[in-house]
Amino acid sequence: MAISHILVTGGCGFIGANFVRFVLEQRPGIRVTNLDALTYSGNPDNLAELAGHPGYRFVHGDVRDRGLIDGLLSDCDAVVHMAAESHVDRSIQDSTPFISTNVSGTQTMLDAVRSCGRPIRLLYVSTDEVYGSLPLDRPDIQFREDTPLAPNSPYAASKAAGDLLCRAYHHTFGLDIVTTRCSNNFGPFQFPEKVIPLFVTNLIEGHQVPLYGDGRNVRDWLHVLDHCEAVLAVLDRGRRGEVYNIGGNNERSNLELTRAILSIMGRSEEMIRRVPDRLGHDLRYAIDATKIGRELGWRPTRSQWPDALEQTVRWYTGNEAWWRRVKSGAYREYYARQYGG
Ligand code: NAD
Ligand code: TYD
Repeated sequence: MAISHILVTGGCGFIGANFVRFVLEQRPGIRVTNLDALTYSGNPDNLAELAGHPGYRFVHGDVRDRGLIDGLLSDCDAVVHMAAESHVDRSIQDSTPFISTNVSGTQTMLDAVRSCGRPIRLLYVSTDEVYGSLPLDRPDIQFREDTPLAPNSPYAASKAAGDLLCRAYHHTFGLDIVTTRCSNNFGPFQFPEKVIPLFVTNLIEGHQVPLYGDGRNVRDWLHVLDHCEAVLAVLDRGRRGEVYNIGGNNERSNLELTRAILSIMGRSEEMIRRVPDRLGHDLRYAIDATKIGRELGWRPTRSQWPDALEQTVRWYTGNEAWWRRVKSGAYREYYARQYGG
């Protein structure tokens, strides 16, 4: 049965806003309800142009509010659950909201789906960080869906708990659940605490970029719209109870990424400020995305390096009003706590 009404949680965040827009563009006639608590990273401006769109409804609320979720599920046929506390450094400063939203919030969503009395598919947007870290000297190893979970940060542990709750609710209650584990996303509307928008906007402001440790840590970078396309493919055609890795096959060290940003922006390496390493900093993430390619025919098409990075940098240089509003108030306090002065 074709999906006609999706409840998206966290749709005012970076991936959520891109996903809501992507779905409405790709599927004329579909309805999307976006439930978002508007935490520091949830920004209604990200979807401002959808005001008045006949297929779109925004609900300001929390995934831990069971009564609210019960009501919203009454006329939805699928849930894409991506509301979360999402930043590793904040989870190191204080893990409390991570456990509450990412674990209890996911449990609340699952209990609501379980008791709604109708078959509703739930897709849980997990992360490659649940697998832990790979060594730098073994380029032959990547995370597969059957790699044991070994999360290292409080953020990753809270996402792994949600991921395992999804597994358990599928196994115990037979719920129709699919899970995606994606690598690092980049693209428009990313909150400027994450490395790419942080570095780009710092450079525009004339500030140095804080590179952790020796910069050798490796991440696999995927354009957010490639991620959105993969999530929709898994929602439509993924097998019940299965996990799908999503990756860009695009591994870059942080130093390489930083140099690429500096070069696009015409700045020198003097703009790099070496700062103490992140506690427990995972060395390398690398995704084997063979399964989603084989079963669903998905491949990244928008993550071409360095063109896609350059386009993303241009988005931030062209949307100064957006990030300047975001980089104020409480953000400044966070920045001072994280990086000093
Ligand atoms: P984000 O921080 O930009 O957005 C999170 C959104 O969730 C915000 O709009 C926020 O207001 C909302 N939210 C937070 N707590 C909530 C609550 N209790 N109730 C309702 N809404 C709440 O995060 P993002 O980068 O867009 O990540 C979205 C999802 O994708 C997360 O689940 C994250 O773990 C996962 N993910 C992210 C990446 C990445 O590279 N950014 C990679 C893989 C997976
Ligand atoms: P981030 O964007 O926080 O994503 P994640 O921790 O989920 O991978 O960080 C990406 C990489 O960039 C990670 O290895 C940490 C590094 N990094 C810095 O070197 N400096 C920074 O200020 C930040 C935020 C990240």
